[in-house]
Amino acid sequence: MMPMELGKHLGDLIECAYHGLVFDRNGACAAAPTSRSVPGCSLTRYPLAETGPLLWIWMGDPDMADSVPLPRTDFVGIGVPGWRVDVAGYFHLKARYTLLVDNLFDLSHLSYIHASIVGDPKNNTLPLEEAAFVEDDGRTFFQRVRDDFSSQDDYHRFLDPRMGERMCAGFQTEMIAPGLIRAGDVHWCGPDRRTAPVGYSNFNHAFTPESEHSTHYWTFLSRNYDTSNDMTSARQVEQNNAVVAQDIDALEAIETALQQGNLPPEISMKQDLGGMRARLRLIQMINREAAAQA
Ligand SMILES: [Fe+2]
Repeated sequence: MMPMELGKHLGDLIECAYHGLVFDRNGACAAAPTSRSVPGCSLTRYPLAETGPLLWIWMGDPDMADSVPLPRTDFVGIGVPGWRVDVAGYFHLKARYTLLVDNLFDLSHLSYIHASIVGDPKNNTLPLEEAAFVEDDGRTFFQRVRDDFSSQDDYHRFLDPRMGERMCAGFQTEMIAPGLIRAGDVHWCGPDRRTAPVGYSNFNHAFTPESEHSTHYWTFLSRNYDTSNDMTSARQVEQNNAVVAQDIDALEAIETALQQGNLPPEISMKQDLGGMRARLRLIQMINREAAAQA
């Protein structure tokens, strides 16, 4: 069977790369140049919805496609006035998607895995008392806040060059859907958080399990400041992709170790609280779906 992904688009039609069979939007064979007649074959067709740069495909019973609402993407700035969205890239992760969830819910790894890029360990070793969880609207949200520090901190200077001498920042992770996680930075200009934040930088992660041990992984950025500056976007995309490459190396090493087996019992530390809560949510959703199918 020739994979159709190797075919080519002819407007709304798709042409198979092998014998040139052409299929229409309904999946039906519309032309067969190498045959005397058009065969009665068709492709499987899946409901698909588009939100900004995201495509949501429903692989289950087509009649059930509307039974679950699409995840809210306004939380990442898609379609919201005053926000800019930049697609950063696609990555093939040779690791299970749950390792990515763990990774994004424990940003204390920034000071280690990403030490060469993000730097300042103080950003990521904040006391847990300053961390907060919210579970609302089907979302799981986690934040650590760092108050009153110098914006000479290279990372924040990079994110938002408008920062004054003092600033505050929140490091946030939000699971909007199992395949959509926002890892973001909210920053305040000044020594406290009594005024409105001056900006949000979201590093958004969208992923689809490919197999038990591999994941299709896309990232896109969104921010609500300096939105007309293409240079800021280009620099942030470049930095994001360098950070993602480091995560991929780490997660693939963990995946290899998991598959080798003979592992000691898992050790959880305080900073794993976010990851544990995210795992719990995934387990609850998987159990709910299994119960519904039963
Ligand atoms: Fe990371």
